[in-house]
Amino acid sequence: MVDRSAGQGPLNDLDEWEDDLRRRYPEPAGALAPDSTKSKDEFRDYRADAKPAVTEFYRLNHRYQTVDFVRAKRDEFLKLGKRQMGLWDGLEFLNTLVDDSDPDTSLAQIEHLLQTAEAIRRDGHPRWFILTGLIHDFGKVLCLFGEPQWAVVGDTFPVGCAYSDKIVFSEFLADNPDSQVAEYQTPCGIYSPGCGLDNVMMSWGHDEYMYHIVKDYLPKEALYMIRYHSFYPGHREGAYQHLMNAEDRKYFAAVRAFNPYDLYTKAAERPKIDELRPFYEELWNEFFPPQLAF
Ligand SMILES: [Fe+2]
Ligand SMILES: [Fe+2]
Repeated sequence: MVDRSAGQGPLNDLDEWEDDLRRRYPEPAGALAPDSTKSKDEFRDYRADAKPAVTEFYRLNHRYQTVDFVRAKRDEFLKLGKRQMGLWDGLEFLNTLVDDSDPDTSLAQIEHLLQTAEAIRRDGHPRWFILTGLIHDFGKVLCLFGEPQWAVVGDTFPVGCAYSDKIVFSEFLADNPDSQVAEYQTPCGIYSPGCGLDNVMMSWGHDEYMYHIVKDYLPKEALYMIRYHSFYPGHREGAYQHLMNAEDRKYFAAVRAFNPYDLYTKAAERPKIDELRPFYEELWNEFFPPQLAF
């Protein structure tokens, strides 16, 4: 049974999208090593055994993420007037996003964030990088503000220009009304060549939202990781180079460095939340005010 608190949509919970990402991009040997090689499995057709709920989720995402929709959501949410949240009330709020049918996933969000952050910490990365791991998915609170799953998670892609065939289930984009708008279907669409991704509207979701919440507080590498971590057509498939500028190309190295921590740190061993709490409270306070505006 679908738990409504996990957001309206076909997925039992938001993790089902991320489980599908791991299926599409299986962990290569030594994924956390910088020069890991692609697994053979990576070249299989991902459509063949996608779960029906995931396929339906992408059908909705691709149908409804239009230029007008993204503009409306940016106007609605980027004012950041919904709620003030600190670290623990944020994590607790996020944890109300649970799947009733599986009590083991009831801590899934907080555990994913702590496992990501702890793996980054174990590898000796800077403190801002660890904090990025901890908060990168806080934007999923959009579901708790009533947004449907397809407007919170899913691989992101630019809107207002031609769709890349590197977008997962790109054939579903034929149902997007923007596919009939000639102005949006040239390679650069409403943008100019090399204009830089900062000038490009991405499909709406938790990445762009969280970027705006923390953009005054973290270094540029961290902001790229947060803003583009779901942009799989860009950071895993190499699409949309014609819209990127030199800065994007430079900082996408950070997005790619972050990705294995996001995808491959799901562990059977559950993080000891109470023991970790003081470390992360101090880390939060080093970079952020006690509460952030969502
Ligand atoms: Fe995410
Ligand atoms: Fe994540």
